[in-house]
Amino acid sequence: MRKPIIAGNWKMNNTSAAAQALIEELKPLCKNAKCEVVICVPFTLISLAAAATKGSNIRVGAQNVAWADKGAFTGEVSAEMLKEAGAEYVIIGHSERRQMFGETDESVNKRTIQALKYGLKPIVCVGETEQEKIGGKTDEVNRRQTIAALKGITKEQLDNVVIAYEPVWAIGTGKTATADDADTTIGLIRGVVAELFDAKTAGGLRIQYGGSMNAANCDELMAKEHIDGGLIGGASLKAADFSRIVSSAK
Ligand code: PGA
Repeated sequence: MRKPIIAGNWKMNNTSAAAQALIEELKPLCKNAKCEVVICVPFTLISLAAAATKGSNIRVGAQNVAWADKGAFTGEVSAEMLKEAGAEYVIIGHSERRQMFGETDESVNKRTIQALKYGLKPIVCVGETEQEKIGGKTDEVNRRQTIAALKGITKEQLDNVVIAYEPVWAIGTGKTATADDADTTIGLIRGVVAELFDAKTAGGLRIQYGGSMNAANCDELMAKEHIDGGLIGGASLKAADFSRIVSSAK
């Protein structure tokens, strides 16, 4: 049985006071969660979030990690630093990073390997753009990104990996993939993982859906066979909405 995982992606939102208040609201609302609950916060809020969630069932994640150990990498934050600050998870290869900050399949793979090396659990994002979808390339793109992201990763390491299927056209747009379409593509990704490893390993891998998932559509998405959780952007900034999505994971 795969334990569902609902992760909030705060993106570049919240400063200390707002973060503290949101976490205090979330703690009682999420305390009976049947799934893993994660909030992926900006680098500057990781320590605060780790302290504020201590003793609760909310875990903390970052939104990116450097692919090198340390050194002359201005602007990057290392896996060791993230661990020390209190992060347990890290989002890697989000489409906003791929589209605006030059992230490539290769750098996504390097960051994933680096996260695992330091015991951080990567949430690796894959997903097609609107143009790729229109061009009938959904399967091809998700296959390529999945294979590239997992290159060189062992079966044992895969236990700590989460994949987030996030169709780029659905992120922050209010346009959600239908539950059937999301399930089909996530099933395809699971099939690719089965080819790379084996069916049992693929059957244990948690794959989330992300892209305008909200309180209104979460039940339908979470009811699907292959959908093991969600990566939630906008709706993760409101305690009521995020906790409603958490409660959709059974
Ligand atoms: P959204 O973002 O829920 O606001 O569409 C999801 C994400 O970018 O991870």
